[in-house]
Amino acid sequence: MKPFLCVANWKAQCTPDGETLLAQDIHTVLQRRPADNVEVVLAPSFLSLSSIACSVDHPLSLAAQNCFWQAAGPATGEITPPALAQMGCRYVIIGHSERRTLMNETDAMVAQKYALLLKTQKSLGLIPIVCVGETASERKQGKTRMVLDAQLSTIFSSVSVTSAHRVVIAYEPVWAISTNAKGSTKQGCSPTDCADAGEMIHTIVNRFVPKTISEPIVRVIYGGSVDAKNAASYVQKGNMDGVLVGNASLQTKSFCAIVHALNNAL
Ligand code: PGA
Repeated sequence: MKPFLCVANWKAQCTPDGETLLAQDIHTVLQRRPADNVEVVLAPSFLSLSSIACSVDHPLSLAAQNCFWQAAGPATGEITPPALAQMGCRYVIIGHSERRTLMNETDAMVAQKYALLLKTQKSLGLIPIVCVGETASERKQGKTRMVLDAQLSTIFSSVSVTSAHRVVIAYEPVWAISTNAKGSTKQGCSPTDCADAGEMIHTIVNRFVPKTISEPIVRVIYGGSVDAKNAASYVQKGNMDGVLVGNASLQTKSFCAIVHALNNAL
């Protein structure tokens, strides 16, 4: 059994000072109380990658929250995969629903990023965390499978996957994000619904990548709101390989509680 993945996505919530302190704090707690069944990944803003890479080491790895779809070029303000690899990143989140909504990112753009990450994976070692998922209204209309199919087909037809690749897919039902934010009355995604979506994702992926290849190299994690109370249910009942945590990853205590809940769930 592979360790579960627990990714802290700090979005645009902190400044570099705060992110570096938070990373050091999480590092200290996990050194004191290790969670060997969990691979813990921190996704700070681009600006903190370098200082966090210098101040923490095992058991933490680093992720970027986005990347550009070309390895180099005249693209003001973008950050490329080779630059992220040089900063010590191991993962790159692509296609997060907030980027799709706020920056109008399309499946085609996400597919280009994914293709570049896979084509350069041997040399740069960057693993994509591809976010997919339906909105509340798409779910209400029974379109979950259709949406996942459209998103994943565009991405997986962009480049072929071999057994040497590593890919993470985050099932991120848009309606279940920020459900544990203060004052939210939104309902989260149940582990059973999550398991159904996970099955859909594997079935779609297997149209492009045979199961014998995909099983050991493609991990599917849950990207809706997670806390220490429900984290284990997503990897147990929900059959997920881990979680992508937003809000609850902004405090050492709540994030490490999720890591330890996953650690005990194996
Ligand atoms: P949340 O974010 O944990 O704050 O709901 C999850 C995400 O954006 O993946």
